[in-house]
Amino acid sequence: MRRLDPLPDDIRADGDEGDDGDDGVVRWTRGDVHPQNRLNTLSGNEWLYFTKTVLRTSYPAHAGQELRRRHGANKPPLLMRHLIEFFTRPRGSVLDPFCGVGGTLLGASLCDRVATGIEINPEWLEVYREVTRREGLPEQEVVLGDCRRVLAELAANGRVFDCIATDPPYSIALDKTMCDGRYQVQARHTDFDRFSDDDGDLRNLDSFDHYYQAMEEVARLLLPVVRPRGYCAVIMRDSYQQGRYVFASAEVARRFEAAGFVLKGIKVWYGTGSRVRPYGYPYGFVPNIVHQNILVLQAP
Ligand SMILES: C[S@@+](CC[C@H](N)C(=O)[O-])C[C@H]1O[C@@H](n2cnc3c(N)ncnc32)[C@H](O)[C@@H]1O
Repeated sequence: MRRLDPLPDDIRADGDEGDDGDDGVVRWTRGDVHPQNRLNTLSGNEWLYFTKTVLRTSYPAHAGQELRRRHGANKPPLLMRHLIEFFTRPRGSVLDPFCGVGGTLLGASLCDRVATGIEINPEWLEVYREVTRREGLPEQEVVLGDCRRVLAELAANGRVFDCIATDPPYSIALDKTMCDGRYQVQARHTDFDRFSDDDGDLRNLDSFDHYYQAMEEVARLLLPVVRPRGYCAVIMRDSYQQGRYVFASAEVARRFEAAGFVLKGIKVWYGTGSRVRPYGYPYGFVPNIVHQNILVLQAP
């Protein structure tokens, strides 16, 4: 039998479901799914754990990692499952407009959700398909193209998703992000280092301003395809350029709010395997950015 701890008073609820006592308070415990929980099927303990603003992980190589690592910015399916399980219920739907080699799609498959991914580079979709074949996982719906065009089509077809979980292309000039090319040690040695020559690839934009504008455009296109009060989790890495910290995640959050989303909070994700390099040593402080911000936004 599970240990049953009461949750704080502010989560108690009058209700007509569940095990009502004479006083009209729903009897439930941290170990149970709250009878009024319509968002997900997490127990109280799991729910509270998720709301911590720091997430420290050391996920094992998993779900075709040896294939997916060709994409240097791929995300762990277990991380994406963690997000999707909070923002949807089983068989719920999730959309990733920048799906790469399918971290979100695989995460959805691992928790019995349906997913749709959009990706501009056909090579990454082929890697995703190969992973599903090898791992015996279902192939989720994928659409090749610029998400700005595809999102407008999805909206025109009346498609609506329970949540969005995505990891947009990082801000421009990833190769210069940390050290302006001054150090011999390269941050990444993967196929993702090659910039695609597609005009629609947001990594090809020539300034942060253009990048932020494009992200706001994407946010505006996402609103009609997420259900009312549906959540949108956006993983954003900050940058360091020309001696300055670039708070890219804060600016992208501001742009999503300008488009109509409400910023509900962030989770700081620290994958413990991140390497550190001697930027600035021994002269001054230059951060080793080993975390990413997961912006949690909600549709009105
Ligand atoms: C950070 S990666 C996402 C990686 C993904 N989370 C994964 O696990 O593989 C961003 C992706 O967005 C894609 N992309 C860039 N511009 C795009 C656009 N306009 N429409 C759709 N995809 C785009 C890039 O090709 C890249 O694969």
